[in-house]
Amino acid sequence: MSKRILVTGASGFVGGSVLHFAPADWEVHACSRSALSNAPSNVIHHAIDLCETEATAALFEAVKPEVVLHIAAIANIDYSEINTDEAVAINTECTGRLALLAQKAGARFVFCSTDNVFDGAAGNYDEIFPVSPINFYGRTKVAAEVLIHEVHTNAAIARVALVIGLPVMGSGNSFLIKMEENLRNGTAIEIPENEIRSPIDVITLGKSLLELADNDYHGVINLAGSTALNRYDMARQIATKLGFSTELVKPINSNALQGRAPRPDDVSLNNEFAREVLKTPFPELDEALDIIFNAKS
Ligand SMILES: NC(=O)c1ccc[n+]([C@@H]2O[C@H](COP(=O)([O-])OP(=O)(O)OC[C@H]3O[C@@H](n4cnc5c(N)ncnc54)[C@H](OP(=O)(O)O)[C@@H]3O)[C@@H](O)[C@H]2O)c1
Repeated sequence: MSKRILVTGASGFVGGSVLHFAPADWEVHACSRSALSNAPSNVIHHAIDLCETEATAALFEAVKPEVVLHIAAIANIDYSEINTDEAVAINTECTGRLALLAQKAGARFVFCSTDNVFDGAAGNYDEIFPVSPINFYGRTKVAAEVLIHEVHTNAAIARVALVIGLPVMGSGNSFLIKMEENLRNGTAIEIPENEIRSPIDVITLGKSLLELADNDYHGVINLAGSTALNRYDMARQIATKLGFSTELVKPINSNALQGRAPRPDDVSLNNEFAREVLKTPFPELDEALDIIFNAKS
């Protein structure tokens, strides 16, 4: 059924996938500070800094969304660790304000949280495991989750695993592009062996967020792929899929590197619940890579 949806973070990696796959009969109001390129015809762009309180309230008043899909964030873990005020402003405070505006307008609220809400000691986290972030980025997302619980009664909090893929629209922080470039140039790449993740491809993530926007599940839900592995093994699998030798992929320990925010070791997310609640399939890594590279060609 047709919907009027407000999508934040529209110019980013995940937002691009959401805009691309949003049903053609939905009225999609897309927000970001920067412009969009190649947006589908059902997308209306609003250039806005979501930290500007009055402008955000005015946007709500003008759009009257039925659903808010809040994707915007400072998603860069190292940047958040240093630029803490900025990270709190957008990742936490802005989320609380949007959730409250959505609640007052009777709009559903779907939020992109992260696997970095956990400390990585246990792995295979389900939706009820207690949170315990070890970096500032994770703390801003936990604080946002708390605010949402306080102010909104029909909100879905999607805990998103490491996102892999090529930007579906516009730009994005895709490490796959850089990795492919390096392998093509014969440049060695260093990939953390200590970080275990359950990567989700950006196409599956976009579709599952849209499905969540369209249903009435409320509470926490893990959006993750069906394979848990360390990032070094993941990179080797990608290199092989692309037809390169794995020789250039070198293992490192990310927590031995200086000047970086701490990274949790194993924040693999258990996606059993999402596979029950949602129709979107959550592929194993090999199939996810096919989805990514087939969409490219
Ligand atoms: N990528 C991952 O591996 C990953 C994993 C787990 C969770 N997540 C979460 O998934 C979401 C999307 O991540 P992503 O990788 O797509 O990030 P991204 O590519 O860096 O995109 C971030 C988006 O947020 C917008 N934004 C940031 N500050 C803003 C502000 N003050 N006002 C308005 N818009 C603002 C940016 O738009 P402008 O700069 O144009 O304003 C951009 O559209 C985030 O919530 C992230 O925490 C990502």
